[in-house]
Amino acid sequence: MPAETFVSRLNEQIAHEFAAHQQYVACAVYYDAETLPQLARFFYRQAIEERDHAMMMVQYLIDADAEVTIPGVAAPQTTFGDIVAPVALALDQEKRVSDQINELTRIAREAGDFTSEQFTQWFIKEQVEEVATMSDLLRVVERSKHDPMEVENYMAREHSAGEAEDPTAPHPAGSE
Ligand SMILES: [Fe+2]
Ligand SMILES: [Fe+2]
Repeated sequence: MPAETFVSRLNEQIAHEFAAHQQYVACAVYYDAETLPQLARFFYRQAIEERDHAMMMVQYLIDADAEVTIPGVAAPQTTFGDIVAPVALALDQEKRVSDQINELTRIAREAGDFTSEQFTQWFIKEQVEEVATMSDLLRVVERSKHDPMEVENYMAREHSAGEAEDPTAPHPAGSE
């Protein structure tokens, strides 16, 4: 069995990941309404990734025979002042999640729960990538906030294909 402190903290993290999912859907819908389809597509895709993160954590708890609580989540921000705001919010969110994941690792380590500690390792790597992606994107939208087509071209060039399948990723509950 994983450490009790880890289980309760991981259940909280599931709520954060679902909240991130909802927030990215809200960002995507905002861009879609602004007719910025590349930015919209990017955030729709990020939203699915966040849902997968939540479901990977669900699967871990199921496999470990630990209690899983599927949470309600706080409502996301749905209105934004300009096209920079959703990306700035996303970067803040990713930095916050990085801290949360590090804290999860620390809790597992302090409890001597090495299995759970190892489970968190993939998420540490994932957060490094997500923070880097969002800070790059923030620079691009800040530079071209008066010319959104510039950002759209950048997204089409750099993010059109989506991410390659990561064979080291934990299994999300319910996925094939
Ligand atoms: Fe996540
Ligand atoms: Fe993320």
